[in-house]
Amino acid sequence: MGRAGATEGAPQAGSGPLALALDRAAPASLTEQISTGLRTAIEDGRLAPGGRLPSWRDLASQLGVARGTVRAAYEELIDAQLVQTHGAAGTRVVRQAPPRPPGAALPMAQARDPFDSHPRVSGVFQMGVPAQDAFPAKPWARMLARAARSAASAPLVYPDGRGEPALRAAIAATLAVARGLACSPAQIFVTSGLAASLALAVRTLGLRGTAWTEDPGYPPARRLLAALGLAPQPVPVDAQGLDVAAGQAAAPHAAMALVTPGQQAPLGVALSPARRRALLDWAERSGAWIVEDDYLGELQLQGRAAPALGAQDPEARVLHIGTFSKTISPALRLGFLVVPASEVARFDEAVALHGGAPAPLLQHAVAEFLQGGHQLRHLRRMKSLYARRRDALCACLEADGITHRAAGLAVLLRLPDGVSDQALARTARAHGLAPVPLSLWYAQPQPRHAGLLLGVTNVREEQAAAHWALLAALIRPA
Ligand SMILES: Cc1ncc(COP(=O)(O)O)c(C=O)c1O
Repeated sequence: MGRAGATEGAPQAGSGPLALALDRAAPASLTEQISTGLRTAIEDGRLAPGGRLPSWRDLASQLGVARGTVRAAYEELIDAQLVQTHGAAGTRVVRQAPPRPPGAALPMAQARDPFDSHPRVSGVFQMGVPAQDAFPAKPWARMLARAARSAASAPLVYPDGRGEPALRAAIAATLAVARGLACSPAQIFVTSGLAASLALAVRTLGLRGTAWTEDPGYPPARRLLAALGLAPQPVPVDAQGLDVAAGQAAAPHAAMALVTPGQQAPLGVALSPARRRALLDWAERSGAWIVEDDYLGELQLQGRAAPALGAQDPEARVLHIGTFSKTISPALRLGFLVVPASEVARFDEAVALHGGAPAPLLQHAVAEFLQGGHQLRHLRRMKSLYARRRDALCACLEADGITHRAAGLAVLLRLPDGVSDQALARTARAHGLAPVPLSLWYAQPQPRHAGLLLGVTNVREEQAAAHWALLAALIRPA
């Protein structure tokens, strides 16, 4: 049975994977509640096979119950062969997971789509990551080291949850130049990326009801809106971007619209001036909010990027989300939300309550990257590098007569109807290729076009032909 000592690495009771909440007024005994809570955590995968449970003493003190109560709960789980004791190594979940009861929720890892748009596995044509071979690693390492040194001697105080003043000022200056967005640093809230920015916006504005989402559109954002209690309303995208009239016909009273007007994700089209106007007018008339996901910002390979949606009108009902994932690295987990001046006080309050910006150390390094002109220089280089890489890949597709188009930092090749892009992408994974199937980005069954999105950022010009030949050989028999 579990040693009554310290259990380093074991999960905490009230939060994290265990999330045990006891109800002393409930008819079920405390022992029953603990064993049921643990059983559920094991069955739905929150406690992984082989994972360690807290010691009786730790869990009893975290829950404020007698040790015997926890011990009895553990004994029930041992009897059910869900956990085993390992002497000094503590009590662990059995390696062979018990069969999942019908209808039980899938663990997170399986609930994701298999071609998760957040790339963790590297492969040729991978989307959504900057070039690995062209990052200014040396100056960046120096900036990180400087930031770490000043963090080590900084006062031991709680940082400003809205973000470090230096970074907020640097972002405001960059937005004015690169995105035509005039805003003060007070309107900028530093976050850990799109999900945090979007959740902050939805919660702080108290948005309920329907949210327009682009169809096709970024699947994780759609899932997040649903998780935040909104009902996503897919709105079709055509050659001019989001079809605003279709959105108005389907859900005129929606609380918000989530859009990628600069370069639509994943088709790459820019929202036309007429549609921009129509979208802004709809929000104005109906009191809805537009959330602009400006994930590529000024990183546009052809011509100059259109200004941000709220650029011309400081009163526009637009919140702007930016990220450093595409320009510096997704591993930073650093992004930001820009809110209208009229809403700043609400967001200040929300961030004070819920916590906000990530560690100041990283923020200071990024602030230096922006202020020192490194970002502008790096982006200028990346634009021409990515354009060359894209052109090299497109030349291969053209030579083979494959219909394709540039789409953001990817090339989209359409597949004939009836071909399963998901099956193809799965096969490609086994060959070290990581194309993303277009069909996954659609929320509605019709139309759900088949295609493959090929990220170009890491396709070296001299290797484009060989990489394409490998993928082409998989596509041809399909
Ligand atoms: C449409 C879209 N929005 C936003 C992001 C960036 O999100 P984050 O800032 O969380 O890295 C991505 C990344 O792939 C994306 O595809």
